[in-house]
Amino acid sequence: MVLASQYVRLGIMLLKWLGIILLTFALCSCSQTALSTNPFKTRNDASLFTRIGGLPVLTKIVDQFIDEVATSPRTKRSFDGIKLKALKESIVAQLCKLTGGGCVYEGETMLNSHRDAKITEAEFDAFVDMFRSTLNRFLHTKEKNELLKILAPMKRDIVTK
Ligand code: HEM
Repeated sequence: MVLASQYVRLGIMLLKWLGIILLTFALCSCSQTALSTNPFKTRNDASLFTRIGGLPVLTKIVDQFIDEVATSPRTKRSFDGIKLKALKESIVAQLCKLTGGGCVYEGETMLNSHRDAKITEAEFDAFVDMFRSTLNRFLHTKEKNELLKILAPMKRDIVTK
């Protein structure tokens, strides 16, 4: 009788351990699946272009921004007589390419396209200020700074000394 109850206790103990082991395996594989399908993980790995929101967002940014710089007293001088629709398309293609969106940019170099406008440092800084404000309406700080960092080195080709 005593021996039988000892067997029963041993059996319960074994079942408990088996339960713990199975539960541990289940939890491990669950968290593995959660990690590999976590959308935030994929988004962090994605190109700047994708994190920006692709062409729909890039197009809105450029559209609003160019309308603003073409009318602001600080920058509008250079945009007199310029076909804004074509300019916007060209800038979208350039930014799409630079952020990893795979677009083809067929426009001029920054040096060639800005040489005749004789853009001053003050105009360039005003342009970047306005770009920053536009980006604030569409992007998180991380993506905004990544984009501004890509454009910063172009200053030397755009500003006429
Ligand atoms: C990092 C800053 C800038 C970038 C990335 C940029 C980008 C571009 C691009 C891609 C084009 C089109 C070139 C082509 O299609 O051949 C362009 C043209 C132009 N940009 Fe900029 N630009 C910048 C700064 C500025 C500034 C500061 C101004 C004036 C305040 C300006 C005024 C213009 C004008 C007027 C054109 C048209 C030129 C023409 O068609 O003759 N840009 N820019």
